[in-house]
Amino acid sequence: MQVFHHVASLREALAKARRDGKTIGFVPTMGNLHDAHIELVRMARQHCDRVVVSIFVNRLQFGLNEDWDKYPRTMERDMARLRDAACDFLFHPDEGEIYPNGMDQQTRVVCPAMTGVLCGASRPGHFEGVTTVVAKLFNIVQPDKAVFGIKDFQQLAVVRRMVEDLCLPVDILAAPVHREADGLAMSSRNVYITAKERPKVAVLNQSLNWVRNEILAGRRDFAALEAEARRRVENSGFRADYFSICHSRDLQPAADDDKQITILGAMYTSAARLIDNLSLEL
Ligand code: PAF
Repeated sequence: MQVFHHVASLREALAKARRDGKTIGFVPTMGNLHDAHIELVRMARQHCDRVVVSIFVNRLQFGLNEDWDKYPRTMERDMARLRDAACDFLFHPDEGEIYPNGMDQQTRVVCPAMTGVLCGASRPGHFEGVTTVVAKLFNIVQPDKAVFGIKDFQQLAVVRRMVEDLCLPVDILAAPVHREADGLAMSSRNVYITAKERPKVAVLNQSLNWVRNEILAGRRDFAALEAEARRRVENSGFRADYFSICHSRDLQPAADDDKQITILGAMYTSAARLIDNLSLEL
């Protein structure tokens, strides 16, 4: 695995790969890699000749009171995992490389669709930070395909919309949610869950499953289902952020006759904010 800290040298290596007729798959990450990230790398490998992974903890997508400074940085372990996963190129820039003119005056990519709801409502500015850095990374890497996890369903939808709106020449691939045995979706932020909370956090996934089963059984009183899911999370001792039954494509509240539905949920533990979702086709 070749490691790059600078845009120019990465571009040079990728230009050579392209001249040799190789296709490029890209997995953007913020590091602290776990099995779900490795699945993204595997998917990129399956679809492309060469795989690029970026590790960059993007301050632009963190709110002022969020965890940018304590976000786990585990470079040595991440590099070992990427070598095992046969990643070809690791891009690990510092902030000055990505935002050479600082972040305040950085040109932004704003996706007005779908970013004001759900996680966007709780984390103002978050998706603007995501779309800005992902657009920059796409311009740096110029991948044929890029892989994102379905666990961050809203992020995936927003990135797809950005790609469509800006005619970016990249295919977006979606990788299934990777779960622990009890259903907890794997996330870099799971390290913040305390030992006491750990046996109970699967309530988020269990509540989503409960809502799904009720919909499959014919219920369409979505507001009542969302309220009951919140209650279940709160009865387990957590603060619910949102539960929302949405149309899968545009994340608008689902209509009774919608055939593609995604149920999204978010809750707070003492030190983490966890998200999860389930999709169903009726
Ligand atoms: O999902 C993430 O880890 C980040 O939001 C991403 C896509 C790497 C952009 O910083």
